[in-house]
Amino acid sequence: MKYLLFLPAFLLSIICNSQSFFNPLSIPPTLTGTNFNLTVAPSTHTFYGSTATPTYGINGSYLGPTLIMNKGDSVSIAVTNNLTQTTSIHWHGLHIPASTDGGPHSPIPAATTWNIGYKVLNNASTFWYHPHPHQNTATQVYMGLAGMIIVKDTVEAQLNLPRTYGVDDFPVVLQDRSFNANGTFNVEALADSMIVNGTANAYLDCPAQVVRMRLLNGSNVRSYNLGFSDNRSFYVIASDGGLLSQPFQVTRLKISGGERYEILVDLTASIGNSFYLTSFASAFGNIEPGGGGMANGNSPLNAVDFPIMQLNVVAATANPVTQIPSSLISVTPLQTVNANRTRNKTLEGNGMFTNMGNFTINNLPFDMMYINDTVLLNDTEVWQFTNNSNLAHPMHIHDISFYIVDRNGNAPPAHEAALKDVFYIMPNEIVRVIMKFEDFANDTIPYMYHCHNLMHEDNGMMAQFIVISDPLGSNDETSSNEEITVYPNPASGEVILKWKDALPGNAQVVVYNAVGQIVCTETMSSGTMNLNSLQWNNGIYFISFVQDKKVVWKKLIVNH
Ligand code: C2O
Ligand code: CU
Ligand code: CU
Repeated sequence: MKYLLFLPAFLLSIICNSQSFFNPLSIPPTLTGTNFNLTVAPSTHTFYGSTATPTYGINGSYLGPTLIMNKGDSVSIAVTNNLTQTTSIHWHGLHIPASTDGGPHSPIPAATTWNIGYKVLNNASTFWYHPHPHQNTATQVYMGLAGMIIVKDTVEAQLNLPRTYGVDDFPVVLQDRSFNANGTFNVEALADSMIVNGTANAYLDCPAQVVRMRLLNGSNVRSYNLGFSDNRSFYVIASDGGLLSQPFQVTRLKISGGERYEILVDLTASIGNSFYLTSFASAFGNIEPGGGGMANGNSPLNAVDFPIMQLNVVAATANPVTQIPSSLISVTPLQTVNANRTRNKTLEGNGMFTNMGNFTINNLPFDMMYINDTVLLNDTEVWQFTNNSNLAHPMHIHDISFYIVDRNGNAPPAHEAALKDVFYIMPNEIVRVIMKFEDFANDTIPYMYHCHNLMHEDNGMMAQFIVISDPLGSNDETSSNEEITVYPNPASGEVILKWKDALPGNAQVVVYNAVGQIVCTETMSSGTMNLNSLQWNNGIYFISFVQDKKVVWKKLIVNH
């Protein structure tokens, strides 16, 4: 049961046309500097009329502040969790150490504060932050936990681009939500109402000049096919991880869950005009989230064109940007000839968007204790994704930004020719991405890669990789004692254990998995011993050597 007021925006727009977009678009406040304090807490927020919706917010009632960071700065962040449940906060797209990345391995229990710091290494672009707790991301994001991050750098600062936040440079966080009659959220995959920056029925007064919009699809599941109701063209200038080489003129732009695009809209000749940012979702196939057919269920926003937000063009500001720049930055994609290896990832399973389905990566449901991939620091890798499932998925990789090499063998379209961290992949499509794993080795805390359909992610369409600096493990804190070597490490088959000098007497060798279960016990009677790692699942293992009263621990990574 829904209030009449909760009619989806597009129905209202048919009934009362522009009168229905009566709420000024909320522009989230900014936090700047190098110290960020974020408090995650339950709240209430009024989306419609005077009905309060119970929400979660970050320093506020719904969503969080926009964090403005400068490339090169070292920032400190304190996240206080005032919920009654565990959360985590992930800095989506930022290239930061695994220990600060905020995935499910970095829970923030209720009533605790997570203090971290990292150096901002990314180029200027639009990123975001959101919870990533084990199997509970979808609901927490739906309740309101997300915020934008704008990274600035000196290269972008040289360009003649709009960059006055909330004046000619607008955050646009796209989300769909459904409400119950009592105002509470009805958490569902494909909801019936659009909100932008937490504003329902939003309008935005834009100055008659070139304006920039930072589009973020912060929806749990839905994709959008963006354009304007008057079919005016606009220019894509950046995607997830940075600027394009030059503005790319389009009239439609698909954006899947987690993706960002920055666009320029030339309003210099449009003063007095009113039009809509629209999702032309009638163009979606049944295999896309927000298209039609059984897989999408019956949301009134499915497979129709619907207005998202009204734009009214008002007087220009002082010193407006009035031209679309002809070029932006030089983009130099990594080359496949320089790749150290290729990994094959298949997307498996079947289901609908309205249920969780049984989607996996490589037929392995997510297991926190299982390391799916071990990457060597400084390697360049190609990951080839093949979508064997029946639906489209937005795939996301933590830690690094990548370049899309090709889609079914064809170079990516110009708007995707930038650093990215999410790519949309259709059924039967093969997408290759290339990336270099620089900077952060950590042999115990993995990075995630997953479908950014938050229901698929929570239900196991996720995997994890570690980046290690030294295949022999001699940089590991647990192997500072070089008395014993374990190699090769990572191991894919036979593992050799070797004492440096003569074995002083029989030793007990016990191998533990990452959760402390014993997987093997042997007696070592000579200086060398072989084990077969094929009998163990991929992951991290700890080997104890007990000889007389002495215990030596070694770490072993198995990846076959
Ligand atoms: Cu935006 Cu692993 O997430
Ligand atoms: Cu991420
Ligand atoms: Cu998916």
